[in-house]
Amino acid sequence: MEDRFGHRISYLRVSITDRCNERCTYCMPQELQEWLPRHDILTFEETIRLIRIAGELGVTKIRLTGGEPLTRRDVIQLFRQLPRLTNLRDIGLSTNGTLLTREVEPGLTMAAAVRACGFNSVNISLDTLDREEYARVTGRDLLPDALAGIDAAIAAGFPQVKINCVLMRGHNQEALVPLVDFAAERNLLLRFIELMPVSTTEVLAESNFFPVAEAKRTIEAKFGSLLPQPEFRTNGPASYYQIPGRAQRIGFIGAMTNLHFCESCNKLRLTCDGKLRPCLGSYLEFDIMKPLRAGASDEELRQFFLDVVERKPEQHDFRTTYQPGRKMVAIGG
Ligand code: GTP
Ligand code: 5AD
Ligand code: SF4
Repeated sequence: MEDRFGHRISYLRVSITDRCNERCTYCMPQELQEWLPRHDILTFEETIRLIRIAGELGVTKIRLTGGEPLTRRDVIQLFRQLPRLTNLRDIGLSTNGTLLTREVEPGLTMAAAVRACGFNSVNISLDTLDREEYARVTGRDLLPDALAGIDAAIAAGFPQVKINCVLMRGHNQEALVPLVDFAAERNLLLRFIELMPVSTTEVLAESNFFPVAEAKRTIEAKFGSLLPQPEFRTNGPASYYQIPGRAQRIGFIGAMTNLHFCESCNKLRLTCDGKLRPCLGSYLEFDIMKPLRAGASDEELRQFFLDVVERKPEQHDFRTTYQPGRKMVAIGG
């Protein structure tokens, strides 16, 4: 699939729930959350069918997200069906990590069960190593659980475990250097992410925004000039650098300040309530659940995907006209 601007679509992000056991301010700030009713969420069967169709259209990489994907009941039953789908070469999970140690069956952690389903990458959110700050940012005192989850992911033997740190002025400037060392000690790929306005407006005040360029300077003050690694890429939009004198790489996801950010975009998003979103930072979304539940054929659903790709914008609207409507937790990051 290719859009009008030459973006080749090979990556589908699939949100499987809008629920979460945390309450990150940048994602779903309000305490009183109304969850979507169960009937409005795609069933496992519907989700698998849409992923299969995307695979037939050239999607080779999927990433399961939420909300917190591991809060979905019997989620392993869904994950077990994924490796059988043709064309999928790369299956990833984005999670807050707090449920990775949970036992799925006696002696089998969630992390090990996910790995056994053929997932090769897991991305875990960790904005700070300070327990009180973690609780302030996520609304829950679960830092020990997140850290145990990271250990469980390492023990499960994923080829790639990444750490995601959302940059927030006044919250985690002091966390950056400790996080770099934390990642180095465990051989994890750490990425720093600019706060995107996919939430309510109050958390997006200029005073909260902490650009990747400044994060880079903060890290360079400690470690020296970072060495660009333009040839190193993951599937997503991060740019990577090497820490001088170390084998360690770190990444920056500068969605707001990097004006070329969208040029290499390769993805579509499927929300848990069956909407296809051609871009995270555009209000455009198309309801594929409707034709799906009205009995559409595979051919009709394939055409639906192609029509959505045809409408994919050149770049996101975050710097211009974007109005937070759907919160990150409903889109899946
Ligand atoms: P990999 O590099 O394959 O691990 O994936 P990823 O970086 O896309 O996945 P992850 O779920 O860890 O997302 C990291 C951050 O990048 C999140 O804040 C996402 O919202 C953001 N992100 C990922 N893709 C896009 C994109 O196309 N546009 C924008 N604006 N942000 C994105
Ligand atoms: N801006 C940037 N990143 C965000 N994430 C969630 N909300 C936002 C936001 N408003 C990140 C989480 C998680 C990833 C899937 O998305 O930190 O690591
Ligand atoms: Fe939950 Fe992740 Fe959103 Fe935080 S960022 S509230 S952990 S879905």
